[in-house]
Amino acid sequence: MTHHLKKAELHCHIEGAAPPELALRQARKYGIDTGAIIRDKTYVWDDFTSFLKCYDSVASLFRTEGDYALLAEAYLTELAEAGTIYSEIIVSPDHGNTVGLGADAYIEGLAAGMDAAKAKTGIESRMLITGIRHLGPEAVIRTAEYAARLRHPLVTGFNLAGEERMHSVAEFSRAFDIVRDADLGLTIHAGELSGAFSVRDALDHVRPSRISHGVRAIEDADLIKRLADEGVVLEVCPGSNISLQVFPDFASHPLKALYAAGVRVTLNSDDPPFFHTSLAQEYEIASRIMGFEDSEINGMTRTAIEAAFIDEATRQRLL
Ligand code: ADE
Ligand code: ZN
Repeated sequence: MTHHLKKAELHCHIEGAAPPELALRQARKYGIDTGAIIRDKTYVWDDFTSFLKCYDSVASLFRTEGDYALLAEAYLTELAEAGTIYSEIIVSPDHGNTVGLGADAYIEGLAAGMDAAKAKTGIESRMLITGIRHLGPEAVIRTAEYAARLRHPLVTGFNLAGEERMHSVAEFSRAFDIVRDADLGLTIHAGELSGAFSVRDALDHVRPSRISHGVRAIEDADLIKRLADEGVVLEVCPGSNISLQVFPDFASHPLKALYAAGVRVTLNSDDPPFFHTSLAQEYEIASRIMGFEDSEINGMTRTAIEAAFIDEATRQRLL
């Protein structure tokens, strides 16, 4: 049982955290038909491409600063109620721009929700701005430039999400150079839809301290050793991986093997209602299905705090 354990996460996309009930309320507010994306209060998709499409449709139901404040406050409050002390949310100003909400209003709305959740529950949270890989390197450079000049105290990192099978990592190295120079923490989706080569490319061209997913490193023993030797932290999302059929079932998921090989791993929910999960459920999966001891799971929470993109005083307080 893990409900009593303290929890921390490094990887949750904020639009992907919207419960279908909230999305339905938003749709009613704006008079949008959700028949194609929500059925029986469940998001409708069947592969990664249709998942991304459904994600974009759900995101388009959040249109104002207030909508984003509501979303962040609701998500973080629920997390705190499940024993979570720290959350890094992946945020996408490009999604805000799509609905005509400027990037500053998008970030300010989310920040207001984060502040409200902290005032109510004490939960600490930060934002990682993400570029969208399938929009191409030029668009990601523009997003990186925005992240680099923003200098918002709650925006502490940069990620690259989206369709990993499009473009090479090398095409994004300039975007990552821009945010590295601005002292943002770096992480990148790799080794989820593409294999071990994608993780190796990410290490070589981006030099991140963490990898979002990274689980397909399991295909290459030398790469596993490199991750362990270099102390790169993996943001592992088991429920997401099974839903997206990266692995057929939890028995074949590589979390245990990566942990046993000395790779630093953390537990994360990715897009919880899309994958019928929650951070608390990921902790339960690690315990009951994968057989980790509570002490080992506490070690993963500690790893998350150690690898978090936060100032040292906050890190020490959370550890
Ligand atoms: N955007 C939202 N969820 C994602 C995932 N699991 N992989 C890549 N991009 C995403
Ligand atoms: Zn993700």
